[in-house]
Amino acid sequence: MFDFLKKKKTLPTFAPLVTDMHCHLLPLVDDGSKSLEESLEVMVAMKECGFEEIRLTPHFNYPRFPNKADDIKQRYTNFCNEVEANKGNRQIPRMTSVSGEFQVGDGFVEYLEAGDLLTYKFTDPSQCSEKGLLLIEFSLHQKRMGLDEMVFRLQMEGYDVILAHPERYPYYDAHSDTLERFKEQGVYFQANILSLDGFYGEAAQKKAYEFIENGWVEFLGTDMHNVMYAQALRHASANKKIIKLLENTEFLNSKLAVGV
Ligand SMILES: [Fe+2]
Repeated sequence: MFDFLKKKKTLPTFAPLVTDMHCHLLPLVDDGSKSLEESLEVMVAMKECGFEEIRLTPHFNYPRFPNKADDIKQRYTNFCNEVEANKGNRQIPRMTSVSGEFQVGDGFVEYLEAGDLLTYKFTDPSQCSEKGLLLIEFSLHQKRMGLDEMVFRLQMEGYDVILAHPERYPYYDAHSDTLERFKEQGVYFQANILSLDGFYGEAAQKKAYEFIENGWVEFLGTDMHNVMYAQALRHASANKKIIKLLENTEFLNSKLAVGV
């Protein structure tokens, strides 16, 4: 009879997403985690915030991070084994795939022409193109020539394109014609969770909410790099506006298939 007095059991903030699809926790291959221990620490925070799965997406960004698909897959296998051997009784999410965050810049055409790209798939293969979903990013500093043409070429060559953190590019505003055209062309957008909490500043925060309100954002990612980001994720998980947004908005994170 006093059921109404029982406290409603609330799930951790990011539980509705199930899976994170953007993070840099494969140690020492980019500007992300520097060690197994650091990755484990971040993963503990991700689990506490509600993530059941994580997908690793190291930078492929020539010449800064000239990663190669085969090497990354091998490191991923080794890393999964090391995590299992060292996690002890810590609760962490399952690792379910490795792909990459490919910067469209110097060296990108070489990756494309060599077929050296790592993609995601949807659980239902009929929902994505033959070659899968490719996470791309642009320079955060300067708009390069030919981005639109490259996105179109990727689509013509059989990739679905996910543009990482569109809210973070200073050269695209909330009403950018280019971004609108990308949406018309079927490009998926992935916003960063930390943008919603102001981690990258006010402009990115405002745009992230506006893009979501426009119905432009299909995926949310943590873009975790290190323990400082993990602290910021914990902070974001207590943000009431984010909690409400996740209760009222559907994202496609949980539709991604398991496996490399
Ligand atoms: Fe990233």
